[in-house]
Amino acid sequence: MASNTVFFCKECGYESAKWLGKCPGCNSWNSFVEEKVNKKSSISASNKGFSATFDNKSEVKKLNEIVVQKTVRLSTGYAELDRVLGSGLVEGSLTLIGGEPGIGKSTLIMQVCGNLSKNGKVLYVSGEESEVQVKMRADRLKIQSDNILFLSETNISQIEEKIEETTPKFCIIDSIQTMYDEEISSVPGSISQVKEVTARLMYLAKRKGITIIVIGHVTKDGVIAGPRILEHMVDTVLYIEGERFFSHRIVRGVKNRFGSTNEIGIFDMQDVGLVEVSNMAEVFLSDTSSNLPGTAIVATVEGTSTILLEVQALTSHSYYNMPRRVANGIDLNRLSMILAVLEKRCSINLGTQDVYVNVIGGIRIDEPAVDLAIAMAIVSSYKNIQIDKSTVFIGEVGLTGEIRSINNFEKRVKEISKMGYNKIFGNKKQIENLKKDTLDKNVELIGIASIDEAINYILKGSRC
Ligand code: TYD
Ligand code: MG
Repeated sequence: MASNTVFFCKECGYESAKWLGKCPGCNSWNSFVEEKVNKKSSISASNKGFSATFDNKSEVKKLNEIVVQKTVRLSTGYAELDRVLGSGLVEGSLTLIGGEPGIGKSTLIMQVCGNLSKNGKVLYVSGEESEVQVKMRADRLKIQSDNILFLSETNISQIEEKIEETTPKFCIIDSIQTMYDEEISSVPGSISQVKEVTARLMYLAKRKGITIIVIGHVTKDGVIAGPRILEHMVDTVLYIEGERFFSHRIVRGVKNRFGSTNEIGIFDMQDVGLVEVSNMAEVFLSDTSSNLPGTAIVATVEGTSTILLEVQALTSHSYYNMPRRVANGIDLNRLSMILAVLEKRCSINLGTQDVYVNVIGGIRIDEPAVDLAIAMAIVSSYKNIQIDKSTVFIGEVGLTGEIRSINNFEKRVKEISKMGYNKIFGNKKQIENLKKDTLDKNVELIGIASIDEAINYILKGSRC
């Protein structure tokens, strides 16, 4: 066994024999860390993870002759989570659940364990918390099952042994950063350890048909290897997102070898654990009944779900040489572009104004369909006029001030009308082409070709 040092990129796991200032893999700067690795004479475990058959000898086969066995899907007991996974966990798959520390990964997985235990034996391996801590959480979540086994261990060889002994159907690893392989000299949580342990777990999942869920912390400073490095190794990657000061937790599918990605599931963190949110469409709307200047509502699409969100804007006279632009939940460049369009095409002079934009509920939207709502919220604040609270804006704003068409238009309109909103602003052509007979008669559809037209409408209809 030869000992060697190699350099890894903290961001993407790129491996290099010498230190590099810029990573050729992901272009990040100053991201290389040195790690000791022991080269094993046997086949590298990471290669084992990718082999389909795991036999020493592989055969060349005709693609047409390969028989696809039906994948067995196992429900987690939560419809929101099953949808993100593509109708449940696939038997014998390895799923990674990432998220910042304290976001609720262990809580969610413990709740899932309670449901999975009805289906078979679950082995919960924790390297982070003691058995008492895990038991206390389970008690708090009211999870009681003889089918859940607990193991406090961090050595992957020991874990493998215990799995052989107990033959569980499901295995939880909490968390990947605490596990280590004794043949590698670097510390637990380092890139080579995390990669090696994951490869061994992947091998175990495929060989024994055990469904494994691995928890991984995402840390911003990169001291501990982020699970991003593992994304290409595992079958499915989910991230739990949410703001510390909000109780909503969004479970997002980032990679899925057995289904679509981009789905989200919404949970609410309560004192009894994470509770599914089923009225997803309006969960992020603020609860004030009055409509104040500076707010506009938009319908955004995440996977198969349509969510209504409230965009708030505030413009105020600037005392800086360079006015402040603050964007929360949207891209700052997008905001700059919208401000430039408003100034150039609509003669709304915001050059002396500080502009703050915030999406309510701590959620982030990256799709361009939100442009029109951002622009309207800004105009509403600047002109100090209220926008009727039953109005929703959907449309992308182009550089000439035109309102561009967006995807899933019909789906959004249907959801908006279902939620009781009765005025929808959108691209003129898309509104003309819409099949209106399926919609509520009270819904007023206002097709606009340019942002000017939308501004004129709200100025006319304002009550201030
Ligand atoms: P945890 O699952 O331990 O986070 P992670 O594993 O991602 O680090 O969750 C920790 C937070 O969840 C903690 O701040 C307390 C909160 N929590 C509740 O609000 N309700 C509950 O029922 C539980 C178990 C935790
Ligand atoms: Mg935890």
